[in-house]
Amino acid sequence: MSGPSDRLSRYTPAIFACAFINFVLAQLAAAGGMTWPALPLLAPTTLAVVHLTTLGWLTLLMLGALFQFVPVISNRPLPSQRLVLATLVLFECGLWTLVAGFIGFAGALGDLLPAGAVGVLVAVALGIANLLAPLSHAARRSLPARFVLAGLGSLIVTIALGVCFALALQVPSLAARLGPLLGAGLPAHLLAGLAGWLTLTAVGVSYKLLPMFLLAPEERGALAEAVFALLAGGTALAIAGAVSFALLHSSICGTIETAGVALAGVGTALYLGDVARIYRSRRRRTIELHNRAVLAAFLALGLLLPAALLWQVGADFATPLLVALALSGWLSGLAVTQLYKIVAFLSWLVHFGGKLGTATVPRVQDLVNESRGVLGFGLFFGGVAVQGAGAALAASGPFRVGTALCLLGTLALGREYWRAWRLRYVAQA
Ligand code: HEM
Repeated sequence: MSGPSDRLSRYTPAIFACAFINFVLAQLAAAGGMTWPALPLLAPTTLAVVHLTTLGWLTLLMLGALFQFVPVISNRPLPSQRLVLATLVLFECGLWTLVAGFIGFAGALGDLLPAGAVGVLVAVALGIANLLAPLSHAARRSLPARFVLAGLGSLIVTIALGVCFALALQVPSLAARLGPLLGAGLPAHLLAGLAGWLTLTAVGVSYKLLPMFLLAPEERGALAEAVFALLAGGTALAIAGAVSFALLHSSICGTIETAGVALAGVGTALYLGDVARIYRSRRRRTIELHNRAVLAAFLALGLLLPAALLWQVGADFATPLLVALALSGWLSGLAVTQLYKIVAFLSWLVHFGGKLGTATVPRVQDLVNESRGVLGFGLFFGGVAVQGAGAALAASGPFRVGTALCLLGTLALGREYWRAWRLRYVAQA
C-alpha cells in the first residue's frame, strides 16, 4: 500500500526552504544597493547576487520541484532519497563558496570561485543522475519529461561555461586558452541558463501543473509539440551559435544565434497561445488565486519577446532589462505563484494523503486563505513593474524601490506558505 510519504519527496520541503532564504537574501542585497544599476553590471556583488538568484533560488527550487514532480510524471520512484539530501548539502556549500569567491575574487578569496563552481557542478550532476532514469523512462510518452530533459541538458552547458569563466579568471595557466570565452561567452551562458535551463523546464512543468489545477485536458496535441520543437530546437541553435561565435568570431555563427532566438521567440508566442487555450478549456469555473496571479508572470514572458529583439539589435540597456524581466517577472513570478499551491498540496499530502477514504479530510484549497494571499502577490508584481522600469532606465532609485516591494511581497507570501504548511487555516476553521 502506498502511504503519503511514498508520494512526497522527503527533502523537497527543506530544499524549498533553503531556496526561499537564498531569494530573500538576494533581494535584500539588491534593495540595499549592492548590485547594478547602483554598481557596474559585472561588479563582484552584482555577480554574487545574480547567482544567489539564478542558482540559489531558481535552480535549487526547480531541482526540489523536479524531485517531487518527476516520479509523478514517470510513475517511478527516484533511485535514492539520500542522493537528494547529498545534492542539497553540496549545492548549498558550493553556492556559498561561489558567492564568497565572486565577492572576493580580486583578493585572497578568489580561489573560492573555481572551488564553488566545481561544488555546484558536482551537486547538479548528482541531482541529474537521480532524475535521469525515471525521466528517460517517461520521455517517449510525456511532453513535460522531454522539456525537462532538454532543460537539464542546458543546465549542464550553463554550468560548464560558468566553470570555464571561473577557471579563466582564477587559474593563470588556463587563462590563455579559456580567455576568449570570458566576456564573449556571456550571451551563450545567459541563453543556456535563462532560456535553456529555466524557461524550458518551467514550460514543461507548467504543461503538467496548469491543466492539473485548472482541470483542463492534459493532452495538448500538435500545438504543444510545435512549442517543444521550436523552443527547444531554437534555444539549442541559439546556444550553439553563441558558443561558436565566442570561439570563432565568424558572422555565420552570429546568424545562427539570431535564427535560433527567432525560432525560440515563435515557440514562446505559440506557448502563450496554448496557455490561453488551457485557461479557456478549463472545467474549474473559479480560477484559484495562484492561477490568476500567474497571468502577470505570463505577461512578463510576453514582454521578453520585444526585449530579446532589442538585445539582438544590440541596444545597450537590453541585457539588464532582459535579465530583470526574466528573473523577476517571468521565472520568480511563476515560482512564487506555483509555490502557493504546491506548498498547500504537499502539506495536504503529508497530513491527509493517508486518510483519504477513511475520514473526512479538508480540500487542498482549505489550507490557504486567498484573501490574505492577494496582498503578497500585489506587492510582488507591483514591485516587478517598478523594478522593470528601473532596469529599462538604468535608474538605481526605482530599481531598488521595486526590489524592496518584491521583497515585501515575497515575505508576505512566505508567511502564507508557512501557514499552509502548518495547517493554520484548517485549525482556525
Ligand atoms: C557553477 C555555476 C556558475 C558559475 C561558476 C558562473 C559564473 C559566471 C561568471 C564568472 C559570470 C561573469 C562572466 C563575465 O565576466 O563575462 C557569470 C555571469 C552570469 N551568469 Fe553565471 N555562472 C554559473 C551558473 C549560472 C546559472 C545556472 C545561471 C542562470 C540560470 C547564470 C546566470 C548568469 C547571468 C544572468 C550572468 C550575467 C550577470 C550580469 O550581467 O551581471 N549563471 N556567471
